[in-house]
Amino acid sequence: MIIHAPRITLRPFHADDWEWLLRVEGTSENARFQNYEPRDEENARKYAIEASEKGIGQGNPVWFEFVIQVDGTAIGRIGAIADEHPLQFRVWYSLDPTHGGKGFATEALQTILVFAFEVMQMHRVFAYVDSRNTSSRRLCERARLRFEAELVEDYELKGEWTNTCFYAMLRREYCQPFEIQIIE
Ligand SMILES: CC(C)(COP(=O)(O)OP(=O)(O)OC[C@H]1O[C@@H](n2cnc3c(N)ncnc32)[C@H](O)[C@@H]1OP(=O)(O)O)[C@@H](O)C(=O)NCCC(=O)NCCS
Repeated sequence: MIIHAPRITLRPFHADDWEWLLRVEGTSENARFQNYEPRDEENARKYAIEASEKGIGQGNPVWFEFVIQVDGTAIGRIGAIADEHPLQFRVWYSLDPTHGGKGFATEALQTILVFAFEVMQMHRVFAYVDSRNTSSRRLCERARLRFEAELVEDYELKGEWTNTCFYAMLRREYCQPFEIQIIE
């Protein structure tokens, strides 16, 4: 499945997506608030293969993992999984910083919201964010997810107890930001 939004396209992962994944997620900046260490080649190859095989929305739980493309170039990834309830999507994202600061990640998250509520008929979409990850928190707010709660030192990340912020949007709070086109 390919989803076209106004400026970006979301497409399925391919096994050879490991190359840009390694470049983008092989840095300590990218991995700072993530539950993974900076990726090495083996890890990037493994992730790309798994995402290309399982992240296509057909498994149980339903898992989508898309590459974010702009003008044919891969600039990041965004995923959604219904692992807590079939009608709730947990989302995550990661962007090549050389394409940051232009609203592409915001548009990718908004595209997932349109897909979730218009196509998948979801009840709720939510994200867990490390409270120190201000760029991710701002992204949730730009996409109009509601700040729900901050859990205090609930998560051990890389040897530190960290706070988790929850952001969410319910179906009744959703307002379609733009049209998408889906090609199966
Ligand atoms: C989280 C992350 C994806 C955010 O990236 P980003 O570049 O800040 O997000 P966007 O692409 O939406 O760009 C937003 C910026 O573009 C600006 N912008 C420009 N044009 C815009 C437009 N048309 N629409 C929206 N924003 C626009 C916004 O004002 C914002 O600027 P600001 O940072 O000065 O406030 C990125 O920091 C990242 O990959 N981090 C590492 C991985 C990570 O931590 N993931 C989250 C785990 S929970």
